Amino acid sequence: MKIIGTGSALPKKVVTNDMLTEFFDTSDEWIRTRTGIETRRIITDESLLELAITASNRALEASGLKAQDLDYIICSNVNNNYVYPSMSCMVQGAIGATCPCFDIRIACAGFVYAMDLADSFLKTGRATRILVLAAEEPTRFCNWAQRETSVLFGDGAAAAIVEDSDGYMGARMTTTSNTEVLFQRKRLEPTPFEVEGKYLDHPMVMNGREVFRMAVSSCSSEISSLLNDAGYKVEDIKFFILHQANLRIIKGIEQYLGGIPEQYPTTVQKYGNTSSASIPILLDELVRANKIERGDLIVMSGFGSGFTTGSLLMRY
Ligand code: COA
Repeated sequence: MKIIGTGSALPKKVVTNDMLTEFFDTSDEWIRTRTGIETRRIITDESLLELAITASNRALEASGLKAQDLDYIICSNVNNNYVYPSMSCMVQGAIGATCPCFDIRIACAGFVYAMDLADSFLKTGRATRILVLAAEEPTRFCNWAQRETSVLFGDGAAAAIVEDSDGYMGARMTTTSNTEVLFQRKRLEPTPFEVEGKYLDHPMVMNGREVFRMAVSSCSSEISSLLNDAGYKVEDIKFFILHQANLRIIKGIEQYLGGIPEQYPTTVQKYGNTSSASIPILLDELVRANKIERGDLIVMSGFGSGFTTGSLLMRY
């Protein structure tokens, strides 16, 4: 599999740390030192679907393909205001594609899982060109009365178009059923038979310290074994494109693996944690800044609710 086009789209509203002090007791200093985040983009009058469509059209344009050339659309999306139809179905019609499409919901690791799925579709000949999309609005998961989670997130969408080649060297996926460390419960319609209190909705609940610990240890060991098995060293990798949740988590993984800071590019300072969209947003920025060249080895690695991690190694 190789990437032949990327695109991204972010909301226009820039929210600084200082702006958040209007809503709860926090400070620019606390947020910067604990997370590295300085600003984030938050959806206002645009919709997540519009961002997803723009990101997909930009990726198509960069690839030189038309929407009709796509054989599949796979979209990573945790939440939007439709339970169904899927986000990928809505994007498909809007961009003028006619291929089958489906969504996956693997939280922040979703883009890596979607890329790995895309590779199996390409390898087995089920498809020749796939749009892999991530569209996320995590600022709508949080309880905005709580400072612990609301400061961490931003919204955004990004896409990559992939086609078959021998550049994909595999992936490692880990799922540990630790469902209490990070979850959100959605409201279900009541039935006359409901047992009271059993199906309550609840905005995001997070054990930040545990998420931090699991993210660093799981991603680090996953990437290590991926490189070992493929016979590559850290210095062979041009970029480790890691989920942008917290600068200290990225630094923790860098410390474990080694290498130089330039191999660990970041956008978390300006966009916050955009869930599964963070990896393709960063990828698109690197591609558009001409920082990645054909043949460069890249690692993508994400982590999130589940607890789920996924890491892949490929040539750009
Ligand atoms: N502003 C100011 N104070 C805050 C705050 C905020 N936004 N959020 C929490 N605090 C307070 C807490 O109430 C607590 O106060 P207390 O000590 O009086 O009880 C204190 O800060 C906790 O601070 P600390 O222990 O230093 O926090 P931390 O180093 O564990 O950092 C996180 C907290 C959330 C930034 C960190 O744990 C983290 O990033 N975890 C990973 C989260 C993540 O990435 N989630 C998404 C995964 S996809």
